[in-house]
Amino acid sequence: MYFPTYRPRRLRQNENLRRLIRETKLSVDDLIYPLFVTYGQGVKKEISSMPGNYQMSIDNLVEEVKRAESLGIPAIILFGIPEQKDETASGAYADKGIVQEAIRTIRKANLNILVITDVCLCEYMSHGHCGIVEGDKVLNDPTLELLAKTALSHAEAGADIVAPSDMMDGRVAAIRDILDEHNFFDVPIMSYAAKYASGFYGPFREAAESTPQFGDRRSYQMDPPNSLEALRETALDIEEGADIVMVKPALPYLDIIYQVKQEFGLPVAAYNVSGEFSMVKAAALKGWVDEKKVALEVLTSIKRAGADMILTYYAPDAAEWISGKQQ
Ligand code: PBG
Repeated sequence: MYFPTYRPRRLRQNENLRRLIRETKLSVDDLIYPLFVTYGQGVKKEISSMPGNYQMSIDNLVEEVKRAESLGIPAIILFGIPEQKDETASGAYADKGIVQEAIRTIRKANLNILVITDVCLCEYMSHGHCGIVEGDKVLNDPTLELLAKTALSHAEAGADIVAPSDMMDGRVAAIRDILDEHNFFDVPIMSYAAKYASGFYGPFREAAESTPQFGDRRSYQMDPPNSLEALRETALDIEEGADIVMVKPALPYLDIIYQVKQEFGLPVAAYNVSGEFSMVKAAALKGWVDEKKVALEVLTSIKRAGADMILTYYAPDAAEWISGKQQ
């Protein structure tokens, strides 16, 4: 079919026509809202590099989770900022750790929303790395036990899904094993399967106070130019028991999201990370872009690439925009 017989513009003439032929629909069902929980009471401290996002103590966190629930958002993902950090990340797996207490409090509120937990050690380590450090090395195998303990403590507190983000080799198997041993065989693992050593995590590290004190994360997170490696990483995590696989960041890695979805067909999550959020936010605050239009376009592109769910700091705004509650 060629012009003038075929005129693609015929089907673009008005919104109802466009609605009928729209291939990708962003829905509130797709959204996961990341939240930062900190110690203390009455704390709601704005993260300067992520306007509209806060470090919150548990009391305020619960209010925000209630708001997310009322917007119909299906899940939150929790990151913890402990009062003290050490060289064994003991706060990560403490029974009374910040995330564990937060989960229990959210559970008590009986909300219709899933609680996912980020399983990592960097926020709890004095040096800010995602594993045990010896000299200038981040050790893989000894770290697995701590990650497994962390995931178990989250499940014991009532987490619905655990999401390891450390990028140590073998951690999905270690977590699956310990969860099953303790009868948590129904708790799914959402693995950060292809997680790149990205500059786009900058604002998050302020938010989670998890900047490495020396070196960087390139010995464990993936090298940005690689895509075959992302498929190998994902295959490994699936073999080890991942139920949902994640690509992170999202926007600079849409090709990876596409390939992972095509190759494995498993549910794919994509993390629209802090730097992606902050770029849009900053440009919007300057009046350089239309925030709603650009944010929804970004999220839709991630979905179009193949993501089934999107972790995004825009979750509450997007939920309101999609449902027409906010112009
Ligand atoms: C912890 C972790 C990070 C993010 C999620 N989990 C930071 C990092 O790896 O340095 C980044 C999320 C974001 O930038 O929004 N390992």
